[in-house]
Amino acid sequence: MVEERNTIYLCLAHMSEAGLEQKYVKEAFDTNWVVPMGPNVNAFEQSLSDFANTNSDGSKLDHRVVCLSAGTAAVHLALIACGVKSGDEVCVQSFTFCASSHPITYLGARPVFIDSECETWNMDPELLEKAILDRKEKTGKYPKAIIPVALYGMPYDCEKIMAIANKYNIPVIEDAAEGMGSRFNGRVLGTFGRFGVLSFNGNKMITTSGGGALICQNGEDANNVMWHATQARDAYPYYQHTEIGYNYRMSNVCAGIGRGQMTVLDAHIAHHKHVQALYEELLEDVSEVHIHKQPSDSRYDANFWLCAATLDPEVKIQGQENAYKEAIKTAVGGAAGVIKAVDCATTDCQPNDNVEALRVFMLNKKVECRPVWKPMHKQPVYADAVAYINGVSEEIFKVGFCLPAGPYVTDDDVHYIVDCIKEAIVR
Ligand SMILES: Cc1ncc(COP(=O)(O)O)c(C=O)c1O
Repeated sequence: MVEERNTIYLCLAHMSEAGLEQKYVKEAFDTNWVVPMGPNVNAFEQSLSDFANTNSDGSKLDHRVVCLSAGTAAVHLALIACGVKSGDEVCVQSFTFCASSHPITYLGARPVFIDSECETWNMDPELLEKAILDRKEKTGKYPKAIIPVALYGMPYDCEKIMAIANKYNIPVIEDAAEGMGSRFNGRVLGTFGRFGVLSFNGNKMITTSGGGALICQNGEDANNVMWHATQARDAYPYYQHTEIGYNYRMSNVCAGIGRGQMTVLDAHIAHHKHVQALYEELLEDVSEVHIHKQPSDSRYDANFWLCAATLDPEVKIQGQENAYKEAIKTAVGGAAGVIKAVDCATTDCQPNDNVEALRVFMLNKKVECRPVWKPMHKQPVYADAVAYINGVSEEIFKVGFCLPAGPYVTDDDVHYIVDCIKEAIVR
């Protein structure tokens, strides 16, 4: 009897074999620390700091980490700490998930979208500098912050981005939500800029079910972030406020999961790298598919959160004639919550028909295969935003897709996924 395959998802939460997550969560209940503070939060922050502060060559940094309720909250608080206010502009990578840019709008500030370079798919340093100079000329002000994003875990060119940021004295908020454990020059992403964003959402390198953190360069910034994360209270016996604060601290229950997850972080990173290498090997002779590899430059050390690839536009995929015939009924991408129904199955900027056909073909084979993020400058909600564009992210959006790479993906799964891709291609 042939056993039925379970669906292979992009990246599922995976707990330590020792069940440490449950032990720490139980401790939270046993000691009644069921609040957004406590021993698990402190220990998780310490463990995250130790991780972020240890360079590959053994040398140490002295950053502080503050645990928060989500990566999105971390972006929001980093912007506040950088002094971003209503009417300000912030340069942000266009090719990203919406949480990199949405918090800019929470503050009444305006995103200035920067397109990507071909090699890393991340913020193009040349375009960034052009944008900074152009905004100064047009508005009389420099942008208030710069947000590069480690797309699918790939490091941005930290050296060039930081050099430009320093030249114009603009703080950098590194969005390393997908890049936990990726390194540049042996140093963990998120430790280069003034702030580094981490996410512990259910599909990330490690999870706390939902959660995030900010890597801060010093104690003063960490305290400021913590203050804003806990409703910004002044030192009186009663609640007195001189600034607007937020309820963004991480729960001690969730931090218990995080403490346990830190024991499997290195193994997760190693597994993602292993899966990527196997995809690269097995897809080498499939000339129509191109895996997004890291630059050969040894400074780059990606965690390969997801395996991203592109499909040549002229390739025909089984079922392609039916691509986009029907509007989607459920959210693509797992636990994405409620989606707003639409009348039309197409937009003016979407993945090619063959990429959509591949998604559907793989879904029928029980493999989650997802389009790459749609660039923010092509999102209707940002129709009026300023953007500095070179066509790279839009081009990749049309041909790109992501393949499963999480801890549950076995070698056998990767062989199966590659076989399915080969089967999908009409020859
Ligand atoms: C690039 C990027 N930034 C920010 C976030 C936001 O993180 P969270 O989901 O924890 O709010 C995510 C992921 O979810 C992301 O992929």
